[in-house]
Formats: sequence, C-alpha cells, structure tokens
Amino acid sequence: MRELSVVGGGVIGLSVAWRAAARGHHVTVYDPEPGRGASWLAGGMLAPVTEAWPGEEDVLTLGEASLRRWPDFARDLAEEGVDPGLSPHGTLVVALDSADSGNLEMLAAYLAELGREVERLTGREVRRAEPGLAGSVRSGLLVPGDLAVDNRRLLRSLEHACGRHGVEFRRETVTDLDGLGDVVLAAGAWTGRLHPALADAVRPLKGEILRLRPRRGCLPSPTRTVRAMVEGRPIYLVPRDDGGLVLGATQYEAGFDETVTVRGVRELLEGAERVFPGITEYELVETAAGLRAASVDTMPFIGELGGGVFAATGHHRNGLLMAPVTADAAVAWLDGGPLPDEVAAAAPSRRSEERV
Ligand code: GLY
Repeated sequence: MRELSVVGGGVIGLSVAWRAAARGHHVTVYDPEPGRGASWLAGGMLAPVTEAWPGEEDVLTLGEASLRRWPDFARDLAEEGVDPGLSPHGTLVVALDSADSGNLEMLAAYLAELGREVERLTGREVRRAEPGLAGSVRSGLLVPGDLAVDNRRLLRSLEHACGRHGVEFRRETVTDLDGLGDVVLAAGAWTGRLHPALADAVRPLKGEILRLRPRRGCLPSPTRTVRAMVEGRPIYLVPRDDGGLVLGATQYEAGFDETVTVRGVRELLEGAERVFPGITEYELVETAAGLRAASVDTMPFIGELGGGVFAATGHHRNGLLMAPVTADAAVAWLDGGPLPDEVAAAAPSRRSEERV
C-alpha cells in the first residue's frame, strides 16, 4: 500500500482521499480549510445534459460517465454513515421569450440527436410540473436524468468517510509539491500556482451564489432544479430537502477576487424573480462568492503529470458531477492500473498536443 498526499480538500480531493484510503492506502489531505471553497458554495447540480453546449461533446460524455457512477458513489458514502443527499428529481429548463424558446428547441434537437432523454413541455405543462413558475414561461425542457446533490451534506459525508478510513488532515497551505511523495493535485483554482504544466491552464472563474428560505405563507420551492437564461445569463434554482433554495450563479473573469457584489446579487435576484416570482418573499439567508477552477476547453485535467503527480483539477462548472469518475481515475493510477477509458479526453497531455 502506498503513501499519498492529496493537495486540496474540496469535493475532488476528499473523494480521492476516501476512495484511496478505503482501498488501504495511507492518505494525507493538505488544505487550510477542508470541505470549503467552491465545493461548499456550489448549487449541487449533477447535470451533464443541461450544462451541454454544442462543441463540448467530450465534457458531456465525461459528465455522463461520472453521473452513471453517482448512485453507487452515494450509496457507498451513505453506508459509511452519513447520507450525502442525492436527489432523484430531474431538471427543468425553461424559456421566457421566443428567442429562449428557439434556443431550447435547438438544445432539444441537439440532445435528441445525441440520443439523450429530454421531453419538451409547453408553458402550461411547465406550470403543471412546477406551479410556482411565472405565467410568462413559454416552454420548457424536462431532463429527468440530470440530478442534484446537497453539496454541504456531501462534504460532511466525505469528511466522515475519510475519518473512518484514517485519512490524516493537515490544515496547511501547500506552496511546493517537493517532498510530498506521490501527490494528487486537487487544488482547484489555485492549481496553476503549484505545477508548471498547469500554470496557464487552470484559472479562477468567479461565481456568486445565494441561499434562500421560504417564509411562512410563501410558495414552496420548486421540487426539481429549474434553469433558465435571463438576458443571456444562465441562472439555476436548486431545491434542498429542508425547503431551502440555492440560487446561482454569476460567472465572471475576476482573477482571485471573491467579493460578493451588489451587481451579482441583483442579477441573480432579478433573474430568479422573472422565473419564480414568489421568491421575492423568501428570506435571503446567505450571499457568497467562490472560484471555479476553469480550463480553456472546459474539460478537467485528469491524469499523470509526471514525477509522481496526478492532476485532478480544472473541473470548471462540473466538480461535484465529476468527483466519482475523477476519484476512480486517481485510485486506478495509485494502484498502478490503467485509467478508466472515459477520462482519456481529460489527459493533461492534450495541452502539448494543442501546441503542436
Ligand atoms: N455548476 C454550476 C456553476 O458552476 O455555476
């Protein structure tokens, strides 16, 4: 059995640490605040299909490969003692005007062509499915397979499972990988500072996100994730089991700035009100900003960098979704076996091929 250092204690680092330690490896996680960062702030969508963009088929394929692993991943975690809160409800994408409706038609046609399960709904059918949605919603697309998880329960569950398998936590900021032995690099937006091969490959992509709760007499939160484009900006509303609602997320290139701005909060609330008017009476419980680990082609970097370092980073908008497949790949590397075929397109070596 091997000694492994995991740099980064977000959802990716914790998933790798848990799976590796459960196989008998001795694992140390380095993070000044494990279980926080972008993973703590996330909405929790596990949504490869409704995140799909034409031209990003590799992201869709990898996301689906990971989504297929999610039920077992969640079950195994629950068996460790803390249920991570995987929601079986699907995702509804809604259109507010004729341009949006046209875009939804195109998305539906693209997904249908790829053989993905989607159902087109009229405005009336959308409101039958989710009665709180605005009368102005013109049409919708139901994607039953796109799920969600309660990200904070998931992190608690992973930390608990790591603890059961003897994972050691060092609350330190790593600035140099030398001397750490075999390393899984899962430092999110900060990864580029730690390895020259990823120096200009992973960058921070700021996102602001809100948490709300219905007050007495308010319409309840939708039952499933609802997504929309408002004025060209994507928003999502993700319900929680306790009745709360996560409303996300802005997306800005702002370096390492993690300030919550008035503009960001206003954009999210105005957008959400157009989709789900009852939200105006909700309690605004939390505003927060975090940094996604973005890559140019929106694909993560999963694979060996050389010198005993394995990259598990750059998951862009899909860290929670891709945690299971990333953990499987990292553990396969640690065990000396071949990586799952599904992560081939995420190999860090694609960067040098790009430059040829
Ligand atoms: N996964 C959605 C987001 O990054 O906002």
